[in-house]
Amino acid sequence: MASQKIYILGIESSCDDTAASVICNGQILSNVVANQKIHEAYGGVVPELASRAHQQNIVPVVHQALEKAGITKDDLHAIAFTKGPGLMGSLLVGTSFAKSLAYGLNIPLIDVNHMQAHILAHFIEEDGFEKPPFPFLAMTISGGHTQIVKVSNYFEMDVIGETIDDAVGEAYDKSGKILGLGYPAGPEIDKRAQLGNPKAFQFTKPKVAGLNFSFSGLKTAILYFVQREVNNNPDFIQENLNDICASIQYTIIGILIDKLKLASKQTGIKHIAIGGGVSANSGIRKALKDGEHKFGWKTYVPKFEFTTDNAAMIAIVGYLKYLEGDFAEFNVTASARLKI
Ligand code: KG4
Ligand code: ZN
Repeated sequence: MASQKIYILGIESSCDDTAASVICNGQILSNVVANQKIHEAYGGVVPELASRAHQQNIVPVVHQALEKAGITKDDLHAIAFTKGPGLMGSLLVGTSFAKSLAYGLNIPLIDVNHMQAHILAHFIEEDGFEKPPFPFLAMTISGGHTQIVKVSNYFEMDVIGETIDDAVGEAYDKSGKILGLGYPAGPEIDKRAQLGNPKAFQFTKPKVAGLNFSFSGLKTAILYFVQREVNNNPDFIQENLNDICASIQYTIIGILIDKLKLASKQTGIKHIAIGGGVSANSGIRKALKDGEHKFGWKTYVPKFEFTTDNAAMIAIVGYLKYLEGDFAEFNVTASARLKI
């Protein structure tokens, strides 16, 4: 098998990105993502519109992924797709398409857990990116997820902490909405945070026991704070925007790092990997690097295109499961609340 080339197509459609990727023995040959711009106008993902856009995009995106990889569908050995978690209408598009294609080609179908995929994206072969050794801690931070996972092996994962309400990306996006910024607001808050004073305004960190997170209280605290200040000075936001962003970012990063420190202490694991759209954040990246000096951590951040929602991460899980012969039945169904 070592010299044989195994081609797997990965399909991701759990939220608002329609994505397809071809992997050959751990190496990504193509990684195509169609972002759905339509949601920007609504300040968040509208599930019904997302499903329709997936239906529109799925065939062209898969076609492009095959073309970029320089193969045809007849070269494929298996089709991997996101089974969940995610928006049901969105998942159904990818699941049904993957089934039909695998059935038509008479090749195996492989179901993939989106959250496992965010973590296993670290195992894509990529120059200059080191793979974390087992066991390691993975923190997935995005608009839909906030979890700390103990990863003992490719498919042996335990969620040891997660948000009890909003995801960290939502905290960014909802704070941005309060400040009148566009959606998603994470990148702009990050940019402005680097120009502001992180200690200008204080927001209390939520008190959540153990390794779980909560971000909804922070959003409310920011809302009340802004309303109060704007009452006194209608130009408060414009005059202090960078400082407000820096203070919000400082608070959020503090929450994430506190929990990572606790997780590392409780498990004795110092290898820490992150994934999800928020791992692009300059503050979290710096805090992780600081953790290498301060706490003896070794940290891992995958290539950016593999951290946000993408199909390369689905394809790598497909490849790992293919090697195990772990295939799905053709009556498999999407699962909106699929757990790790
Ligand atoms: O992984 P992703 O592309 O999609 C999912 O939510 O699954 O993550 C998108 C989230 C959004 O909430 C966005 O505001 C946030 O990631 N984000 C950031 C940054 N870049 C993206 N948050 C903070 N700082 C950033 N630089
Ligand atoms: Zn995701």
